[in-house]
Amino acid sequence: MLGANPLRAFAMNFGKLEASNPKCINMAVGVPIDATPAVVVEAKKEWVELSALQGKNGYGDPKGMDTLRHNLTEYYTSTYNLSADAINPDDFTITTGGSSHSLSLSFELLMRGSQGQGQLIILAPFFGPYVGMVKLANGNEVLVDTDKDFLPDLVAIEAAITKDTKAILINSPNNPTGKVYSK
Ligand SMILES: Cc1ncc(COP(=O)(O)O)c(C=O)c1O
Repeated sequence: MLGANPLRAFAMNFGKLEASNPKCINMAVGVPIDATPAVVVEAKKEWVELSALQGKNGYGDPKGMDTLRHNLTEYYTSTYNLSADAINPDDFTITTGGSSHSLSLSFELLMRGSQGQGQLIILAPFFGPYVGMVKLANGNEVLVDTDKDFLPDLVAIEAAITKDTKAILINSPNNPTGKVYSK
């Protein structure tokens, strides 16, 4: 139903080309060219050892590690010169990436009851997985090009709105252009 993600397919095929031709640089999916910094590698090793030795390999606090939330509080308080009681560790919840999942659920809700007719306007270029998410929600993507500076083209957006339009997806800062829209 969804078909292959063309960007992934391109990136994988280009990867093979890159391996045989050093002049090729694969910029398809933002893979870093630098090695992971040594400090990160060391910290990870240390954490693996500590968790094995101290038995800290089970479920932790659902809000995230206490020390991490305390350190974040200190970091933001000093970096942004906040008063001592402006924020506290309970204001932080540490999560893994979750925006794709929540967007997917939002699309499901938006398309509910539209019998496959609902439309979502997406400004192009766009983050590749959006189209699959809309299809999965039994909706239809309506792609509207941005202008030559990758800014929203209001006339084109207005022309794309129909009675079946459920929402306009605005992604700013934009992936892949990096463009930040003004209000
Ligand atoms: C615009 C955009 N949306 C969603 C995601 C995925 O985020 P997550 O890992 O939180 O699902 C990315 C990741 O690059 C992104 O650039």
